Amino acid sequence: MNEKLITHIKIHKKDGQRFIKLLKHHCKNQTCIDNRFRIKKRDKFLLFPLVSENFNSQQIIDLLKNKFSFDLVYEKGLINHNYQPKNLEELLENKLSNKEVSMIPHSYDIIGNIAILELNHYDKFQNSDIIKETIAEGIIKINQNVESVFEKKSEIKGTYRLRSIEHLAGVRKTSTIHKENGCIYKIDIKKSFFTPRLVYERKRLSSLEYKKNEIIVDLFAGVGSFSIQIAKEHPVDIYALDINPDAYDLLKHNISINNLKGNILPINDDAKLFATNEHRIGKELKGNVNRLIMNLPEKSLEFIDTAAFLLTKKSKIHLYQFSEKPNSIKKSIEMLKRKLEFFDLSLRKVFGSRIVKSYSPQADLVVIDALIEKI
Ligand SMILES: C[S@@+](CC[C@H](N)C(=O)[O-])C[C@H]1O[C@@H](n2cnc3c(N)ncnc32)[C@H](O)[C@@H]1O
Repeated sequence: MNEKLITHIKIHKKDGQRFIKLLKHHCKNQTCIDNRFRIKKRDKFLLFPLVSENFNSQQIIDLLKNKFSFDLVYEKGLINHNYQPKNLEELLENKLSNKEVSMIPHSYDIIGNIAILELNHYDKFQNSDIIKETIAEGIIKINQNVESVFEKKSEIKGTYRLRSIEHLAGVRKTSTIHKENGCIYKIDIKKSFFTPRLVYERKRLSSLEYKKNEIIVDLFAGVGSFSIQIAKEHPVDIYALDINPDAYDLLKHNISINNLKGNILPINDDAKLFATNEHRIGKELKGNVNRLIMNLPEKSLEFIDTAAFLLTKKSKIHLYQFSEKPNSIKKSIEMLKRKLEFFDLSLRKVFGSRIVKSYSPQADLVVIDALIEKI
């Protein structure tokens, strides 16, 4: 930044106020004076640094001629050390090359005070480690509550739905407290699945109607983000299952720190083993469950037999699924219908459906809210 030549308007001191007023009027909401640099005083003159993207020399001449006597001066800007950069790109523009800056990701996940982002497109650069570290330190500087930054090193994978991550900057810890929609979650980004990108889905599900003491099973509960949000607002009975012991420990903790209207029973087990006559609680729930939350998008249809075991005669499911584009919702409903019929269940009505997000060029993550009846 300090190497750049900046267009300055040199104007007599006595015209300074009038000049600023004219500029404000002309620029409306745009920034005309480049606040990254200071206004220079030189003898009886002031030199105003201009935002070059918003002006070209001819525009300035047209604007000022016949109003002021002025000069256009191109020289190094005087850095304004009090300036707060507006974004990461601006913060790093004098630390990285233009190309490197142009590749900075526009968004990244923030979970509690940990930021996680994808930077593998820098791997082709020789100094990729330094670039990544510079970006990570920039993220900490620009986000007051971020203390640690990690790079995503793999897709979400395995039974526990985890990804590999690598520490880039800040405090080397993977555990944090995340607040969302009035709920609070202890999360360990290395040990359990959690994504802030489902924030709207959690709010959406908790905004539906629930009967008092309705029995709900959250089959793939993770740290409890769906269960806790629902039980925070409704006096329901939720059985929250997860196969991952670390997710279960966090789930137990999260139940205890949120002031819930409903009850949540955490269970560390495989959903397949739970929905059997051999499982004490599963057996008790057989045919009694009013609602199932099935958020295991790559495999949820493999658990329709589990649904058939647990659900009461008329019940509801919220099924999250990866489904092929285009017409991903229609395809997902078709697949669900066929699978249900196989287990003597029928899809009475789809009372909600949406594309939660585009998952890949080929597939969407969709959710289907459905009324199910036993045939
Ligand atoms: C996509 S995550 C969803 C977690 C949570 N619902 C959320 O949105 O944060 C799926 C979870 O299902 C769990 N899981 C995978 N297979 C399971 C199974 N057979 N039985 C119970 N839980 C399972 C994983 O450990 C993981 O925590």
